[in-house]
Amino acid sequence: MTTTRDGATVPPLPGDTPGPPGDISARSFWAKPFEEREQTFAWLRANEPVSYHRPYESTLVPPEPDSPGFWALTKHEDCQLVSRNQEDFTVTQGVIMEDFPEVIVVASHSFLAMDDPEHNRLRSIVSRAFTPRRTKTMESWIQGVAKDLVDEMIDKGEGEFCELFAKQMPGRIFAHFFGVEVGSEEAEILMDSAEKMLAWDDPRCALGRDALFTFAEEVERMQDVALAVAELRRDEPAEDLVSWVVHAEVDGERMEDWEIAAFFSLLGSAANDTTRHSLAHAVRLFSQHPDQLALLLEDFDGRVANAVEEVLRHSTPVQHFRRTATRDTQIRGVDIKAGDKVVMWYCSGDRDEEVFEDPGRFDILRGNARSHMAFGAGGAHFCIGAALGRQMIQAGLRAIYTRMPDITLAGEPEIQINHFMHGVHAMPVRWSR
Ligand code: HEM
Repeated sequence: MTTTRDGATVPPLPGDTPGPPGDISARSFWAKPFEEREQTFAWLRANEPVSYHRPYESTLVPPEPDSPGFWALTKHEDCQLVSRNQEDFTVTQGVIMEDFPEVIVVASHSFLAMDDPEHNRLRSIVSRAFTPRRTKTMESWIQGVAKDLVDEMIDKGEGEFCELFAKQMPGRIFAHFFGVEVGSEEAEILMDSAEKMLAWDDPRCALGRDALFTFAEEVERMQDVALAVAELRRDEPAEDLVSWVVHAEVDGERMEDWEIAAFFSLLGSAANDTTRHSLAHAVRLFSQHPDQLALLLEDFDGRVANAVEEVLRHSTPVQHFRRTATRDTQIRGVDIKAGDKVVMWYCSGDRDEEVFEDPGRFDILRGNARSHMAFGAGGAHFCIGAALGRQMIQAGLRAIYTRMPDITLAGEPEIQINHFMHGVHAMPVRWSR
């Protein structure tokens, strides 16, 4: 079945290829394993690279019978084209395939949901904190955080990897950026709410709350922490990002509390959960591909950077972002109308056979692994923390595989039900003490 932009479903004509094996608008689709979902994206890439879909079965704002659907872009090239074209594709109408109420977007998305020049004005306040050069100066501190975590877990011999390591590492680093003490109640809230606010569809994170309430409540928990620190730093600035932001001026004016709060809910969620899932995928992939682990261990320093790129390509921790067309246009000859939602499926671009040879293979020596879209497709919203994210994953792998080279899965990883993050809810592992 194909869905047209007018909402009609068209049965296949005799001789037509049957439709995709799965329905990306169905919530149940996102409970399936990643590799099974990839079969649907592979079908779309091959048969209908720009395809129209009914609205997602949203639990945030359930669709009405006349709610519009969305275009799915599944080719690497098309995602890049849209990501790099702010004139024709805006972020101001929402950034994921589901709709949030506008008030929530304003309160929580900050410059992620702004076009230039507003976007650039706000982004530039923090971008200086995350340049590759500045990130490099944090290298030994970040390695120290990873080493401490291994010290804390090594004698256990087994455990749940996200709780022991993947969640802790970005959590501790971002506690520092937020100006809260590692191990404090505030640091725990930041780690916990970062996970839950981006997994509203997963009952293990929603804990009986409805989806919108889950998101809003977790955003509020994170913002309360940031605002409490901001209050302190107004009079007594310290060496943290909150002080920087509180005293920064945008167009000659200080930011208001709600702007600071939105800013930190974007940063906290964008930095923590993405890195946590990437670290978990790294250990999962090396555990499932011992030949690749052997290659990595053979020349760790020479191969780790490319291995990180291949982990990011193969697992694509952030699976999509959305834009909305500002005017009538065309993609691959398909008519797109002003106001249409256009979803860039990075998880599909990262498996595009026209860019990556044998894309399902996990190959840490792959020559063009870095062409992945895990940090976005190159436009104005390209990940501000890409250098830091890469560095955290590298440091994590170094600490883990120098001390626990035989760490391996001790059971099936539990993957989140989530169309946005390729999230790992929990992952049992064991290693020699
Ligand atoms: C492996 C870890 C990470 C992954 C996979 C990741 C992925 C992404 C993606 C896909 C985007 C959106 C690009 C788009 O709209 O197309 C993004 C944006 C962003 N990321 Fe990351 N990210 C990671 C780590 C971080 C870190 C450590 C930070 C902390 C500074 C961060 C902060 C941000 C911010 C602030 C944005 C919004 C940028 C804008 O709108 O201009 N990310 N990230």
